[in-house]
Amino acid sequence: MAYDIHRIRNEFPSLAVTDNGKRRVYFDNPGGTQVAKRVMDRMQDYFIHMNTNGGGAFITSRQSDALMDEGHAALADLVGSSDPGEIIFGQNMTTLTLHLSRSIGRTLSAGDEIVVTRMDHDANVSPWLFMAEDHGLKVRWMDFNPETFRYDQDALDRVLTPKTKLVAVNYASNATGTVNDIRSISRKAHEVGALVFVDAVQFTPHFVTDIKAIECDFLACSAYKFYGPHQGLIWGKRDLLEAYTPYKVRPATKSLPGAYETGTQSHEGMAGTLGAVEHFEWVGSEMGAGGSSRRERIISGFNVIAEYERELGRRLIRGLKHIPGVTIYGLTEDVDLVDRVPTVAITKEGVHPRHMAESLGDANIFVWDGHYYAIEVIERLGLTEKGGMLRIGLGQYNTIEEVDDLLDHIETAF
Ligand SMILES: Cc1ncc(COP(=O)(O)O)c(C=O)c1O
Repeated sequence: MAYDIHRIRNEFPSLAVTDNGKRRVYFDNPGGTQVAKRVMDRMQDYFIHMNTNGGGAFITSRQSDALMDEGHAALADLVGSSDPGEIIFGQNMTTLTLHLSRSIGRTLSAGDEIVVTRMDHDANVSPWLFMAEDHGLKVRWMDFNPETFRYDQDALDRVLTPKTKLVAVNYASNATGTVNDIRSISRKAHEVGALVFVDAVQFTPHFVTDIKAIECDFLACSAYKFYGPHQGLIWGKRDLLEAYTPYKVRPATKSLPGAYETGTQSHEGMAGTLGAVEHFEWVGSEMGAGGSSRRERIISGFNVIAEYERELGRRLIRGLKHIPGVTIYGLTEDVDLVDRVPTVAITKEGVHPRHMAESLGDANIFVWDGHYYAIEVIERLGLTEKGGMLRIGLGQYNTIEEVDDLLDHIETAF
């Protein structure tokens, strides 16, 4: 069975919305995707049938608790864990990272070192800078190569020392789109006894996530970037989560995942995030190899999606390369497309990125401009004073025609 873009698009009700007859083109996906129908159905069903708080002795509460358990199990399957207790839900990736960093920080002491990077979104930088400030830690910065948009082979070696306790690194850049080799980063970090915290927010929407294969200790992502509701989650190794002290009000329980899920959670959000996983399963069953387990169906869904998105990305990058004055900040060779997500950041000579975004916006083509919190990346590329870059982010429901419309606009409108 092949990828059927028409069936995919039918799964996203918002794609049918028009403005004075004009279609909307969503290339703003890295900032948040459109929401799959299964997500909305799950959320509506939650509100109608089981809307209440947890732990009660009545049917709605029991059903709600069961659905939350199912949500944790589904997200464990999404990241490749066999332990639903290792999934911590929360408001978003930023809030969860700030939250967990307090617990990790308590185990560190003055003189210990941490590594953050120049490629990361600030949500995987500032929480660790605060932690360093609170506990007197030394911060070392891992730099990327602004010519290749990757880390050099020895980039981590240059900053890793026997005192390193944590390496915070992104799986895929929200600016350049580069996908990093997390397994080799994890192996090097573990050799000196450091933990690895992976920001997978931009990776998870596009590829199979497998925490065992990349050998990390923590992995964070956001459901609203993979066609779900506004919610974040962190996967963490059970023994680590159990060893830390969670910041939690009494009667604080140490049992996972509740230990780190503070206050009343977004139950409807968990229901919706479960729906997002079910969407990927549906793609895998209907258009891919399918499978007998949820994890297998998820993997087969991502396999067909990744192939489709790679073709779209190839067309976009090839087209951009032919437009005079356009610079692409990221991997552009066909052979390198496996090492990037289809998020493409560009500038066009003589045109401010905001002006490009506005002009595209007038044509109902949605793209982001600026720094999108990749503060260090934009600074490293020397683009802070120039308005950053225009970011075109493709997703599973975008079409070749939409890509061609965008290319045509960038070539001719300014
Ligand atoms: C790579 C990356 N990390 C972290 C975040 C922050 O995620 P959240 O909005 O869930 O806090 C984003 C959001 O754009 C992101 O792109």
